[in-house]
Amino acid sequence: MAERGQFSSKIGFLLAATGSAVGLGNIWGFPTQAASNGGAAFLLVYLILAFVLAYPALMAELTIGRHARANVVTALAQLHPSALMHKAGLAVGVGALSVAVFILSFYAIVTGWMLAEFLSPAAQLLQLHKTAHWLDAQSFSRNLLMCAVMSGLTITIIARGVEKGIEAWSTRLMPALFLILLGMIGYVFTQPGATDGLRVYLVPDLSRLSDPGLILSAMGQAFFSLSLGVGTMLIYGSYLRDTDNLPRMGASVTLLDTGFAFTAGLLILPAIYVAQAQGITVFNSDGALMAGPDLIFQVLPALFDSMGTAGSWLALAFFALMSIAALTSAISLLEVPVSVAVERWGINRPLAACLSGAVIFMISGIIIAQHDKIFSAVITLTTEYGQPLLGVALCLFAGWALHRDQLLKELRKGNPNLESSFFWRIWPFYVKFICPLLILTTFVQSLR
Ligand code: TRP
Repeated sequence: MAERGQFSSKIGFLLAATGSAVGLGNIWGFPTQAASNGGAAFLLVYLILAFVLAYPALMAELTIGRHARANVVTALAQLHPSALMHKAGLAVGVGALSVAVFILSFYAIVTGWMLAEFLSPAAQLLQLHKTAHWLDAQSFSRNLLMCAVMSGLTITIIARGVEKGIEAWSTRLMPALFLILLGMIGYVFTQPGATDGLRVYLVPDLSRLSDPGLILSAMGQAFFSLSLGVGTMLIYGSYLRDTDNLPRMGASVTLLDTGFAFTAGLLILPAIYVAQAQGITVFNSDGALMAGPDLIFQVLPALFDSMGTAGSWLALAFFALMSIAALTSAISLLEVPVSVAVERWGINRPLAACLSGAVIFMISGIIIAQHDKIFSAVITLTTEYGQPLLGVALCLFAGWALHRDQLLKELRKGNPNLESSFFWRIWPFYVKFICPLLILTTFVQSLR
C-alpha cells in the first residue's frame, strides 16, 4: 500500500481542519439562524453547545483517527478485537461514508450556486449582460454546469494528496477567506443601518432561551459546522503527526470555527439592516426575517444592486468568500470516500478521487433534476438524523471500544502532562456516558 499522507505542520492541520469546519454553515447558516432565533440568545446557546457537546465529539473523532491511522470504515472495524465490534464498526463506518457522500452531493450543488453568483457580477463588470443574467437565474443547465466545475476543482485538489492538495490549498485559501470577510465587514459598518443589525445580533432576546427548538437548532448547527459524525475529522486526525497535542488542536479548531461563525454574523446581520435602510424588503409577510435562500439570493443581491459599481465588486467579494469557504469544506467531504477507496481497495489516489467525485456528481445531478422533490429531504435526512446519530456512535466507539489505557497512550503523545490536565479528568467519562446521552436527549426531543 502507498505510504499514508501526513500534515507537515501544526498550522497546516489547523488550516485544513478549520477549512473543513468553516463553510456555508458558518457564513450562511449560523448568521441566519441567529437572526431568526433571538440574536445573541442563539449565539450564547451555540457557543455553549459547541464546547460542551461538539468539542468532546470532535475529540472522539480525532483520537480514533490518529489511533487507527486509517479511514473511517477501517478505523472503526479494527478498534476492538471482538467479532461483534468488528461488525458494528463496519456498519457505522459504512453509514458514515454514505452520509458523507450524500452531504457532499447537496453541498456541491449549493457550492455551484455560489460560483454562479460569483461569476455573474464578474460578467456584469465585463459588460457581458446576457451571460450575467443566465448565471443569475436558477436553471437546470446552470446548476449542473456550476456543480460540475466545483466538483472538478474538489477532485483536482483531493487527487494531489494530503500535503500538496488539502494542506497546500487550505493554507492558500483560508487567509484569503479571512481577509475578504474583514474587508467586507469594514465596508458594511460604514453604511447607514449597520448599527441596528449589530444591536439585533449582540443584544440577546432572553425570552427565546426557553424555546426547545432553539437548543435543537443550535446543536444541529454546531454538529454541521464542526463537520462531525461522518469521518471527516476522523480522517484529518489520522493524518496528524504523533508529536501534535490532540486536545489542544481540537480546541483550536473549535475556537476558530466558532470565531469565524461569530465574525460572519458581524457581516450578515448589519448587511440585512443596511438593506432595510435602502428600502429593500427584509421581513416576509408574517414578520419573520427573510433567512435561508431568500436572504442570500434576494436580500443581499438587491443590496449590492442598490450600490452601483461598488456593489458589483462587493457581490464579487462576497460570493468569492462563499465559494472559497465551500470549496475547503467540500474537499474534506470528498476525502472520506477517497481514503476508503485508496486504503481498502488499493485504488490509486487520483483515480479514487475521480471515481468518487464522479459518483457523487451523478447523485448531485439527480438531486438537481428532482430539486423540488428531494433536495430538502436529503439535507434533513443527512444533517438532522444522520449526523447526530453517527455522532453518538462515534462517541460510544471512542469511549467503549478503546480501553482507557489506549486513550491515555494516544492522547499522551505530543502532550506528556496529559494526566494532570482538566481534559483528561473529564473527557474519558464524558465521552462514554454524558455526551451520547445529551446528544440523544436533544435528538429525541426534536422528534416530538
Ligand atoms: N462544516 C462545513 C460547513 O460549515 C460543512 C462540512 C464539511 C460538513 N465537512 C462536513 C458538514 C462533514 C457535515 C459533515 O459548511
